[in-house]
Amino acid sequence: MKVLITGGAGFIGSHLAEALLARGDEVFVIDDLSTGSIENIIHLKEDPKFHYVIDTIKNQQVLAELVDRCDTVFHLAAAVGVKLIVESPVRTIETNIAGTEIVLQLANKKSKKVLIASTSEVYGKSDSIPFNEDDDMVLGSTKKGRWSYACSKAIDEFLALAYHKERGLPVVIIRLFNTVGPRQTGRYGMVIPTLVRQALAGEPMTVFGDGNQTRSFTYVKDVVGAMTALIDHPQAVGEVFNVGNDRAISIEDLAKLIKERTQSASEIVHIPYDVAYQQGFEDMLRRVPDISKLRDLTGYNPSVNIEGIVDSVIEYYRHKD
Ligand SMILES: NC(=O)c1ccc[n+]([C@@H]2O[C@H](COP(=O)([O-])OP(=O)(O)OC[C@H]3O[C@@H](n4cnc5c(N)ncnc54)[C@H](O)[C@@H]3O)[C@@H](O)[C@H]2O)c1
Repeated sequence: MKVLITGGAGFIGSHLAEALLARGDEVFVIDDLSTGSIENIIHLKEDPKFHYVIDTIKNQQVLAELVDRCDTVFHLAAAVGVKLIVESPVRTIETNIAGTEIVLQLANKKSKKVLIASTSEVYGKSDSIPFNEDDDMVLGSTKKGRWSYACSKAIDEFLALAYHKERGLPVVIIRLFNTVGPRQTGRYGMVIPTLVRQALAGEPMTVFGDGNQTRSFTYVKDVVGAMTALIDHPQAVGEVFNVGNDRAISIEDLAKLIKERTQSASEIVHIPYDVAYQQGFEDMLRRVPDISKLRDLTGYNPSVNIEGIVDSVIEYYRHKD
């Protein structure tokens, strides 16, 4: 198979590229390096089946050529991370909506299968735990910038499903819950890399709010396994799948776990959301996926627990200069 990964120099994209090369696929990557990095794919450059282009997905000519050369497209390029979204809403909306529109238009011209990476953020403030793919979206006011990410990804989902229903384009949509592992950067507000980096540097470990909010974390290789299983599965076409882990941990307990595993002397400090982000910032107390749809179709079962995930990130940051 020839596969195109948009955003392939990013955290998840680079692990996906590795997995696809390992199974014998030829991999093409397009990435503008806005949040990704050449460092993430440098080790793949010697592989004759690996090709990459540093450009934006908004460059239609370049993207069209890449789509033509491939059988399937994994569309991961997006403005990502709560901090980036709150600080750069124009970039978030434009990249996530216009970028996906271009990918779908080009894929549709040549009937290429597309997997779209959406997010658990589309469930918004819903308290119907665990989140099921058919649940309602409960989003906040348009005055609150963070919801622009959820809305932009929801539009991506609508558009992909519309292409499928109206034009017969084979699409698969995944809603990723917090995905973690080596190469994820803490620069844009991701909690585990941020806390690990702080713990290793002996700096205060910052927990937003009271720390009672819970999240479920999934190891990046489990997520990549789900992505490759879904792109291969004929019954995944036209469907939406949660991809995550149904075991949750509070952020306070997570900080304590990271402190213990790094043997850090850092103190855990609490920062009000208004100070961490913007006044009136809204967060969800709990976010847990119902993964039965994915499990029933592919046999998916997350294999790495939170201790294993934390250790992999600690190991990565210990050896990163
Ligand atoms: N990591 C998570 O927990 C998580 C959760 C939910 C959804 N997702 C989704 O998964 C996908 C991958 O996320 P990630 O965590 O690997 O983040 P990432 O920032 O590492 O990856 C995104 C990649 O897209 C690239 N990119 C951004 N705009 C681009 C453009 N216009 N043209 C070309 N490349 C562009 C970035 O440089 C980066 O390499 C994203 O679509 C994201 O919304 C991730």
